[in-house]
Amino acid sequence: METVRIGALELATPLMLSPMAGVTNPPFRQLCREQAEAGIKAAGAHVPSPSTGALKGTFAPAGLWVCEMVTTRALIERRPKTMNMIQPDTCDPVRSIQLYGVSPRVTAEAIRILIEEEWADHIDLNFGCPAPKVTRRGGGSALPWKLDLFREIIQASVEAARKASVKRGFEIPVTAKIRLGIDDTHETWKDAARIAEDLGVSALTLHGRTTAQYYSGRAAWQAIGELVDMVDIPVFGNGDVFDVDDAREMMGSTGCAGVAIGRGAQGRPWIFYNLAAWLHGADVHAQPTLGEVSEIILRHGELAIAHYDDELKAMREMRGHIASYLRGFKLGGQVRDGFARITTLDELRERLSELDASQPYPKAADGRRGRAGAPKRPHLPEDWLDSRELTEKQRAKIAAAEIDVSGG
Ligand SMILES: Cc1cc2nc3c(=O)[nH]c(=O)nc-3n(C[C@H](O)[C@H](O)[C@H](O)COP(=O)(O)O)c2cc1C
Repeated sequence: METVRIGALELATPLMLSPMAGVTNPPFRQLCREQAEAGIKAAGAHVPSPSTGALKGTFAPAGLWVCEMVTTRALIERRPKTMNMIQPDTCDPVRSIQLYGVSPRVTAEAIRILIEEEWADHIDLNFGCPAPKVTRRGGGSALPWKLDLFREIIQASVEAARKASVKRGFEIPVTAKIRLGIDDTHETWKDAARIAEDLGVSALTLHGRTTAQYYSGRAAWQAIGELVDMVDIPVFGNGDVFDVDDAREMMGSTGCAGVAIGRGAQGRPWIFYNLAAWLHGADVHAQPTLGEVSEIILRHGELAIAHYDDELKAMREMRGHIASYLRGFKLGGQVRDGFARITTLDELRERLSELDASQPYPKAADGRRGRAGAPKRPHLPEDWLDSRELTEKQRAKIAAAEIDVSGG
């Protein structure tokens, strides 16, 4: 298969783990990457070595494994939680970090740090988040409505990346993740895409929903196809890919260069095994037994402990993941309750060993999963929708809000 080029970065498998706050941390990213690499091997395709000097940072054999969104302000202040969030999966040849910010200056500074200090080989900018705490400050998916601010942030980001990349010897690409708009009557994606491409953004990911939709309803893949026709840079389609059939349909109907998968990987990292194998020409469909899922859970738990260096914290985080992993298996409420309270790896191992390892992968584990909910009125700064340019008052408010944004 042809590689996809995102600036200087070459992608041999056009897959992206869509960033998810609280989910796509180093252990989770590593699991997904390993699954994709195993899928490529299962397809009999060659996986280039990730640590062969010249390729490092510019060649992604299995896909892009994007860090959960990091707040630019927290990053430049080097808050400990944020510095922990950007820790790389050390075997990932291309380190991808997603930034959220509302200040061009702070975003540029965050990018300088990430590139010069070698935290990242790819920067993604978040213009898709619908969370009220983000949009009410004018950030995430609310931001592209203000064309001047959007332009300023993109310009500052691309310039900062270019400048900082000189030290690295290759140009670190900046990409952007966008939604369709604020709601059905306030579309932003076309303007945002044109501006981003004109100012040097190397690829776009379009989540086919508006802010008002949050995660409800169906993602509009048709817009992804229109975006592909509109721009010359690669487009990643995003929204509602839960298996290989969905990916095949999305790529076939839209012509997008690759797919970004979020919720479909929750408790199911082997979706990347299936997708990578398919993209490299094999029709394998991993359907792990309960015993095989247990092994993945244990590995996830071990990686989480290594990441946090705090067993209790790691196990607390694992509780949510385990509920997703065990979805659809016949276990009974008491067994599930036990997993919802685990505090040590030994206890996790013990509880998993009590399960029937031969239980086959259930049909109920397939299909849609993760956050869904209902449409809601977006939370926006005052008079946000009145014009496409920032008023002086809004500009001052945003500058102040930037300082307050705490994202770890
Ligand atoms: C729990 C959760 C956290 C998310 N956090 C982020 C984030 O930090 N940055 C981002 O760009 N998108 C975030 N998203 C959106 C996903 O990346 C993705 O765009 C969305 O879920 C649609 O894709 P999917 O249908 O494959 O899940 C989040 C989604 C969920 C469910």
